[in-house]
Amino acid sequence: MKQRVFVTRAIPEVGIKMLQEHFVVAVWPEILPPSRECLISGISAADGLLSLLTDKVDGSLLDVAPNLRIVSNYAVGFDNLDLAELTKRGILATNTPGVLTETTADLAFTLMLSAARRIVESASFVKNGHWQTWGPELLLGQDIYGARLGLFGFGRIGQAVARRAKGFAMRMRYFDVVRQEHLEEELGIEYVEPAELLATSDFVSIHAPLNDFTRHFFDREAFTLMKKTAILINTARGAIINEKDLYQALGEGRLAGAALDVTDPEPMEKENPLLTLDNVLVVPHIASASHATRNRMAVMAAKNLIAGLQGQEPPNLLNPEVMSRQRGI
Ligand code: DGY
Repeated sequence: MKQRVFVTRAIPEVGIKMLQEHFVVAVWPEILPPSRECLISGISAADGLLSLLTDKVDGSLLDVAPNLRIVSNYAVGFDNLDLAELTKRGILATNTPGVLTETTADLAFTLMLSAARRIVESASFVKNGHWQTWGPELLLGQDIYGARLGLFGFGRIGQAVARRAKGFAMRMRYFDVVRQEHLEEELGIEYVEPAELLATSDFVSIHAPLNDFTRHFFDREAFTLMKKTAILINTARGAIINEKDLYQALGEGRLAGAALDVTDPEPMEKENPLLTLDNVLVVPHIASASHATRNRMAVMAAKNLIAGLQGQEPPNLLNPEVMSRQRGI
């Protein structure tokens, strides 16, 4: 009998087709994610789950999935998965690293340029008929070229942002729990502790996973350390920033602006006061949203799932200890 796979949203067809060659595939057809009840009903008979970052996969969900052998997450971030719980139950977990690095770095850079040069405000200014003449003081922004960039997190995406920033002659510093000394000379970037990163950067761009250390790292205390002229960019996970503290810091002029691809929660509520500020730019978690990248993510997620259900080691395995246990190593 063919194994069953539940896909929690219509990912690009290329990935679905790959899965259909091997398994009986059910795809959640709506634009909005499946409710908890629908997720439970989809997963209850499944051998494999292809999940999105909008699906919380925790112990209580796994309780109703006795056959489940693999969760293939269609994202590089996997804070939506309870990895310890999956590992404990011998269920493989995978993600999609690498294929979205450059696309995400492009968006981080786009947000930095847009916030610094007030692109959204400028476009609305013209559309709303306010443009009367060239003005010496009209919509002045900040220079990117030569400015100081602080990268909070220096994994694949942070490094890809640094390569872009090098072309803009930005002076770069980074903080990461893992120091990358071999890249420091090549990219012209210096390692510093977080407090110094915050205190000396004109732009701070977040490229860290969400975990106990990073959750709400950007809070009142962090904003107090930052330059009043600094702009904060986040393409990682919304909960790394305490949004209430961010609003307060912006309101009190302790920070010049913020450009956010991710919020907490998502979607950002219409009533969120951050949306009333001209110096805040929010886009709807689109950092990896190019046609080519989403196709690559679909192929990678499908390959991981196929390998796992065929008893092979998935290429992007997050909990190798499950595989070792299965092999009796
Ligand atoms: C990820 O992959 O973690 C991004 O946030 C969405 O592509």
